[in-house]
Amino acid sequence: MRIVLLGPPGAGKGTQAQLLSEDKGFERFSTGDILRRHISENTPLGSRVKDYLIKGELVPDDILLQLVRNFLKEKNLSPILFDGFPRTLTQAKGLDGLLEEEGHPLDLVIFLDLPETEIIRRLNSRRICKRCGANYNLITQPPKVSGRCDRCGGLLIKREDDNTKAIRERLRAYRERTSPLYEYYERRGILIKVSGMGSPLQVYKRIIRFL
Ligand code: AP5
Repeated sequence: MRIVLLGPPGAGKGTQAQLLSEDKGFERFSTGDILRRHISENTPLGSRVKDYLIKGELVPDDILLQLVRNFLKEKNLSPILFDGFPRTLTQAKGLDGLLEEEGHPLDLVIFLDLPETEIIRRLNSRRICKRCGANYNLITQPPKVSGRCDRCGGLLIKREDDNTKAIRERLRAYRERTSPLYEYYERRGILIKVSGMGSPLQVYKRIIRFL
């Protein structure tokens, strides 16, 4: 099975991707996490993409398409969840081509819908673990011990792109370049729209009804 999680920044894609991979065994292709890992490990790709992420701009399509190509070579037999990819029409068409080649077209695109005021509230209060990348929220999903990760005890930090300027840019990039994908997939009859409001578990229950 091949599923895309689509939606604006902060809509809860990463949170739902984690639940789906733990509960249903999906392999996650989470492009934000992959790119941040390259940055923290100082790889050549990390230095190429660092500025884009800090500013909240989209990384060039050719880089993302190469990443997905490599991922599919490794994981083509598993159920896959694409989280944060594709984000442009070029990426969407590139993904379609690759999935066609391997004979497993997309089954479902889940669009997570969330009003902009709630997006900004969630992103401003998000914290991530510096060591393992786990996701928290000071308002909705606080850690048991303030400032420390429940899983590994690592330090919780604010993501570098969770500031007003970068959030504004991410929302702009989403509106201009990613939102056209809604219609692209809706026309193919594979898109479902799910409200991202409510607790992570409430949202998850809405999603799995369609699986
Ligand atoms: P990426 O990491 O994918 O960032 P994003 O799309 O902006 O999404 P976020 O991770 O901010 O939010 P999310 O929807 O995953 O929500 P989350 O679950 O974390 O990408 C970062 C950057 O990488 C991009 O800006 C770009 O530069 C580059 N990039 C990545 N992919 C690319 C691509 N394909 N093409 C080009 N460039 C690319 O939740 C947010 C917060 O809300 C958390 O604190 C969470 O705990 C909380 N929360 C989640 N769900 C709920 C809920 N139901 N109720 C209450 N709180 C909740």
